Amino acid sequence: MKTLTLNDGHCIPQVGLGTWQSQPGEVERAVTHALEVGYRHIDCAWIYGNEKEVGVGLKEAIDRGVCRRDEVFITSKLWNNAHGEPQFTRSLDESLKGLGIEQLDLYLIHWPVAFVGKVTMPKKFDQYLSREQSPLPDTWALMEAAQQAGKVRSIGVSNFAAHHIEEVIGNGTVPPAVNQVECHPYFSQRPLLDACARHNIPLTAYSPLGSSDASGKRAAKGIASVMADPVVLGIAETHGCSVAQILIAWAVQRGTIVIPKSANPERIAQNFAAGEMELAALEMQAIDNLERGLRYIDGTFFCGDNSPYDLAELWGN
Ligand code: A2P
Repeated sequence: MKTLTLNDGHCIPQVGLGTWQSQPGEVERAVTHALEVGYRHIDCAWIYGNEKEVGVGLKEAIDRGVCRRDEVFITSKLWNNAHGEPQFTRSLDESLKGLGIEQLDLYLIHWPVAFVGKVTMPKKFDQYLSREQSPLPDTWALMEAAQQAGKVRSIGVSNFAAHHIEEVIGNGTVPPAVNQVECHPYFSQRPLLDACARHNIPLTAYSPLGSSDASGKRAAKGIASVMADPVVLGIAETHGCSVAQILIAWAVQRGTIVIPKSANPERIAQNFAAGEMELAALEMQAIDNLERGLRYIDGTFFCGDNSPYDLAELWGN
């Protein structure tokens, strides 16, 4: 199992199990099975609404002697409605309790976007908190305090553009250990990868398979699916493996952390095995060349007339 050493000295396994859109009722078995086939990294978030069930799967594996708690790297994320106190502590405690653990290995600010407490998804302008009302450095200071208090080992961010990273680093004491963002061959994040590398911050690639849970709807709108890309299909054929495995192998080989979601036992196992594959330099190059600036998770749901946020500020372009 390949690992990366973070800028705070802690190690993170490069392939983790994603749990976004894993349903309560199926995610328990997915987590236990993942740990059985060798995963030691589970990616979670408060907003996924399934941390309690992830905790059940984790406990089951520990009780059966599959792994020890201290061998598993567990990430959770602070939702947008808890950027200030008292919601921050309440939300972190809820994640810890749900997952059934004393300490998170990594805690991330889920988005550089803030809502009024108790609002899960705003519908009106006054349900958002603007950048001025909820400055990112203030939330980062709470993250640092949670780390100091021992509730989390590493702290990081998600969906941050380079200017958000700079703002946090410029005002904080500890730099983010990770930036988790959408990343796949159609949106390979090269500029952000380079900007974060300057601070020794690796990217964690979410939706590495192009978030294919929504691919049916997207196909209807004519949006290309990275899982159907002919170049990737050709490389998969050469290796006698699945397209998903090539996408995961590419992510690992270019130095990102990658968290494919699956609730299917066979796919969970094959995704983990992909972490050990080797692609030739020419194959890596051919996949790099597929870049087409296609974000599947485009952030429009936090922007527009009813929001103080806009896409240019959100993504830094
Ligand atoms: P399932 O849970 O039924 O396996 P992403 O991580 O990019 O969001 O992609 C997740 C989607 O990809 C889910 O629909 C998941 O479905 C599917 N998926 C996960 N692993 C594989 C695989 N090895 N082959 C095909 N589809 C996969």
